[in-house]
Amino acid sequence: KNQHFKDKMLFFKAWLSLGGSWHWRHKMKPPIVYMSTSSLLEPATWFDDSTKWTRLGAAVLPFWVADMDFKAAEPIQSAVCRRAATGSYGYATPSLKLKEAIIANCRECWNAESCDPKWIRFHPGLICGLYQAVRLAQGGGVIVPVPIYPPFLNAARDTASAIRLVDVSKEDSIFKNIEKAVCELKAQGQNQIVILWCSPHNPTGRVWRRSELEHLANIVRRHADEITAVCSDEVWSGLVFDDTKTPFVSLAELAFSANYTDLLDRLVILTSPSKTYNVAALDFAFAVIPNDSLRRRYFRVGRDQAECTPLGLAAAEAILVNDQHNSSECRRRDILTPHNGKCEPWRRELVQFLQANRDYTIDFIHNHCAPDVYVAAIPEASYLIWLDCNGLGLSNPAAYFRDQFYLGLSDGDPFFGKVQSGFCRFNFACPRPVLEDGLSRLAAAVESVRSQRREKSLQ
Ligand SMILES: Cc1ncc(COP(=O)(O)O)c(C=O)c1O
Repeated sequence: KNQHFKDKMLFFKAWLSLGGSWHWRHKMKPPIVYMSTSSLLEPATWFDDSTKWTRLGAAVLPFWVADMDFKAAEPIQSAVCRRAATGSYGYATPSLKLKEAIIANCRECWNAESCDPKWIRFHPGLICGLYQAVRLAQGGGVIVPVPIYPPFLNAARDTASAIRLVDVSKEDSIFKNIEKAVCELKAQGQNQIVILWCSPHNPTGRVWRRSELEHLANIVRRHADEITAVCSDEVWSGLVFDDTKTPFVSLAELAFSANYTDLLDRLVILTSPSKTYNVAALDFAFAVIPNDSLRRRYFRVGRDQAECTPLGLAAAEAILVNDQHNSSECRRRDILTPHNGKCEPWRRELVQFLQANRDYTIDFIHNHCAPDVYVAAIPEASYLIWLDCNGLGLSNPAAYFRDQFYLGLSDGDPFFGKVQSGFCRFNFACPRPVLEDGLSRLAAAVESVRSQRREKSLQ
């Protein structure tokens, strides 16, 4: 009886926290949101300041920005509440405990005893780190893989004098094209080149294989005089679906383990728990830069940025501190997911949940939307799926989905820097009933285009 009551309460809480506000805001039937009683994942409670739920208009069901519709893990909530309750919100210095935790994770995952706390540069978000990395080229050349999370392109355009875009959807030629881009920039007289890298990749969810990263390391070796820095944004590393088939390999781990010293001396690893633990608005990120002189320059070109907030630092401690290092377990590869971290049970459950949502989404699109809309890349990590909507023959599919079907996807154009269009990015990190609703809107949009096509062909 007690269990039955608990189940009902949980159902009601979940319904209220997501369905209640949804009902009010969208004048629709509330979704039935049920997570099992043992679940650590709780649907988020929406406030009117939610960017994801308000930016595209109240009636649009949002699957765009990279936020999840789940509350953060309980240890994060407690740590933030405890820190907020002090009432002291002056400038805060990252604790020694946090720095040591990050470095202990780097030593373990990268198999690199020499890692030192002074290698870390804290940021209030990754984007300022991307800008700083690009500034290392001192107005020189920047190589950007596309499609890509748009701020990569902004950082390059706002700061560099020459940009080369390399299409990473053409898997057999990515590294040839990166090398070609380096040679072209060299031929133009650029001798300060920065390569931006995203691993796992946003928007395709690709987990780069060790052999692929070796190609990148070899390019750096061959053009060491002109390549100033390689910035690897590894923010999605905590959300890899299959650790055995597609294990995450940090560019730092490769540089240390295979003795790629040229790469090591040019490396900027940029990361944050923001995506894995759904804490983006707590504004906490960091860079790890092993080379002393590169790190000094990186610090110098970033003197205009703000500090981390005490709430972000409190959350980071709750996430990154490993209560006990356990060498008997298989080796970890990702510095954001300490084995005995307080949030690790939550994260593991999350990854399983997301994987099931991913599979459901792929099946649905295959059965109901293809070939007009199809999955351009099966994500091996993240909660984002990259859709090719060119089969619809629309000039802006994202606008069509939004205006006609109240379905909010990310428009793919800004991910290319406008060289290609017809793509959308779909965020599937939400309770299943919400996902089902979003996918049926997508199917309805596809069906509507098909029926218009049929009508036209009969005329
Ligand atoms: C690859 C990548 N880098 C950086 C960011 C920015 O993250 P944050 O807002 O946590 O700084 C994102 C956000 O989605 C991202 O996908």
